[in-house]
Amino acid sequence: MKTKAAVLFEQPGKWEVTEVDLDPPQDFEVLVEFAACGMCHSDDHVATNDMQLGYLPYCGGHEGAGTVLEVGPGVRSLKSGDHIVTSFIPGCGKCRWCASGMQNLCDYGALMMTGSQMDGTYRMHIGDVNVGQGSLLSAFSKHSILPEWSCIKVDSDLPMLTAALVGCAVPTGWGSAVNAAQVSPGDVVIVMGVGGVGINAVQGAAHAGAAHVVAVDPVAFKQETALKLGATAAFSSIDEAREHVRDLTNGQGADATIITIGVVTGAHVGDGFSSIRKGGVVVVTGMGKMAESGLPVGLFELTMYQKRIQGCLYGMMSPSKDVPRLLGLYQSGHLKLDEIVTRTYPLEQINEGYTAMHAGEVMRGVLDYSLS
Ligand SMILES: NC(=O)c1ccc[n+]([C@@H]2O[C@H](COP(=O)([O-])OP(=O)(O)OC[C@H]3O[C@@H](n4cnc5c(N)ncnc54)[C@H](O)[C@@H]3O)[C@@H](O)[C@H]2O)c1
Ligand SMILES: [Zn+2]
Ligand SMILES: [Zn+2]
Repeated sequence: MKTKAAVLFEQPGKWEVTEVDLDPPQDFEVLVEFAACGMCHSDDHVATNDMQLGYLPYCGGHEGAGTVLEVGPGVRSLKSGDHIVTSFIPGCGKCRWCASGMQNLCDYGALMMTGSQMDGTYRMHIGDVNVGQGSLLSAFSKHSILPEWSCIKVDSDLPMLTAALVGCAVPTGWGSAVNAAQVSPGDVVIVMGVGGVGINAVQGAAHAGAAHVVAVDPVAFKQETALKLGATAAFSSIDEAREHVRDLTNGQGADATIITIGVVTGAHVGDGFSSIRKGGVVVVTGMGKMAESGLPVGLFELTMYQKRIQGCLYGMMSPSKDVPRLLGLYQSGHLKLDEIVTRTYPLEQINEGYTAMHAGEVMRGVLDYSLS
């Protein structure tokens, strides 16, 4: 079939909306019609060439919600008409990581940037050129083929525009606080960078019982939104936040600092490291340039203060288990999602959506396929 997709032909480059061909679903794959896809900063890292791909052209989009139209041979857990949210890492259920309750580290995650499906071949094409599918998904396409293992079945009465955020921003941010930082009642937590991911770290930390959630973002609108959704204080810089937290903790520092800045540098991690108490943790969720290495972190301080630096992928979540639970929190009013869908865009305006993200105008911009 033919469909419309936002495709990257070069790095760095802009998303180009173009017609693509889709093969029918193969073994264990489904055809999905997307209703919505959040515009995560991770797809922008690909467009800016912070992250170099294994394949071009490439169709991104990994925060999608839609409806299953057709299932391929062998699919058992889904049927036509089911509503799904995407998981940007498949959950095979069999590998060491899935079997250990760490579905976010599933071995099939290795295919995220190669663009192929699980059998190593391609389903999206322009003429005789294969189009790589980001995270095996390509939710920047009205229709796409994806593995059954990348779909989480959700209630059909959930609004798709908000449910889409539970494909990435929500579990990533919430889990950064709840799983990676293991925020406990009474904790003092700093969140550096309050975008689509960081606002959910703020919500997760507040929900886990933090006494103080200190948001850091240079954009006033981000600070205001953080204060509405669980932050107890908000500052433009980590220097101001560090001072505030020292006042709160008799000079000791934060129990946890979570870094969810759009383009993370080693210096940001160093700033986070200097803001935590002994035995505290810096959670590094945000990403920067793929090739960057080295952290300005004192080895003496690391050892003698027993500080921890914790990387965090997909909020250390197991999406099959956690996506329905997060949506349950949304349905019961404990997790705010409608408030963070700032603007919606037709697929044709995807680049305008990313321009607004860079300008700090949106918590999350979401592609709404009903507008195309
Ligand atoms: N680890 C994962 O599994 C995972 C998943 C999704 C996204 N990410 C990454 O998380 C990061 C955040 O993604 P997003 O979609 O929320 O991005 P975003 O652009 O919506 O938000 C980033 C925020 O950081 C703020 N910021 C910029 N410089 C700052 C600074 N020096 N101090 C404090 N705040 C600053 C911006 O104003 C913005 O509000 C990105 O790097 C993205 O690639 C990681
Ligand atoms: Zn994402
Ligand atoms: Zn697995």
